[in-house]
Amino acid sequence: MRDINQFTLTQAVKDSFETEPGSRFETILHTVIDHIHDCTRELNVTHEEWMGVLNFLYDCGQISTPERHEFILLSDVLGFSALVDMINTRGGATEGSNLGPFYLDDAPEKHLGAHLADGRDGVTVLVHGKVTDSLHKPVPGATVDTWQADSTGTYPIQEQAQGQDKMDLRGKFTTDENGRYWYTTVLPKPYTVPYDGPVGDLLRAGNRHAWRAAHLHYIIRAEGLAAITTEVFFENTEYIDNDAVFGVRKSLIAKVEPAKKIEDLNLPTDVKPDAMFTFDFVLAPESKKR
Ligand code: BEZ
Ligand code: FE
Repeated sequence: MRDINQFTLTQAVKDSFETEPGSRFETILHTVIDHIHDCTRELNVTHEEWMGVLNFLYDCGQISTPERHEFILLSDVLGFSALVDMINTRGGATEGSNLGPFYLDDAPEKHLGAHLADGRDGVTVLVHGKVTDSLHKPVPGATVDTWQADSTGTYPIQEQAQGQDKMDLRGKFTTDENGRYWYTTVLPKPYTVPYDGPVGDLLRAGNRHAWRAAHLHYIIRAEGLAAITTEVFFENTEYIDNDAVFGVRKSLIAKVEPAKKIEDLNLPTDVKPDAMFTFDFVLAPESKKR
């Protein structure tokens, strides 16, 4: 009869699984068991504390719906989502950042120069740049799929009950023969991640706010190159140094300027912008791992 104690338990639990030796599944399972057991021993966790953790996870499950995934939010505010984005950014490519919960894969295709924010208040901005590969070669025919909040920090998809069209403030652009994309929109404002659930309680318990720095979301795709999911932020804006989900990277911050030299750019637009910024996206090869 084996004698299991707090030091031999960890190996016994790992041995209880008949996993394929050396498989990724086995590695992940064993590593997670090792770390959680180590942490439990190190902290001398009490029954009350452990039940607190389990009840917190239960509450995350209870509030979750297909539209509201509290575990993703938990991963976001604890920096796990950011860490996975960082680890999976390929060498030479634009850094990855949060997908967030508001992506729709069937956003309308728009022509270059289109305005994404018809009839909306806010600073109208020309967004332009290039999609290149990691050798700086322009990528024609790349898809620039973008979505964003408005100038009050609201995504139209959140206000469908108030008559908003969920496809507003989003669109897919195709880069021209020089790999360029351009369009106009309104500058978004910061908004809070949902904080009326257990993750909100966690933020409050740690004296943290729920605000995200203002951003535009992007997925950039091109044949033969690895797609990237990322966000673009704006220099000197609120929460740029303390985004609630750790999405900001230095390389993802754009500088918004008055639309002075816009004529020189030769980028026809449907509406006249007040401001502009440029942001280039770099895609690494699909096959190469990192
Ligand atoms: C967003 O950027 O849309 C987002 C990210 C994390 C939580 C909630 C919203
Ligand atoms: Fe967002």
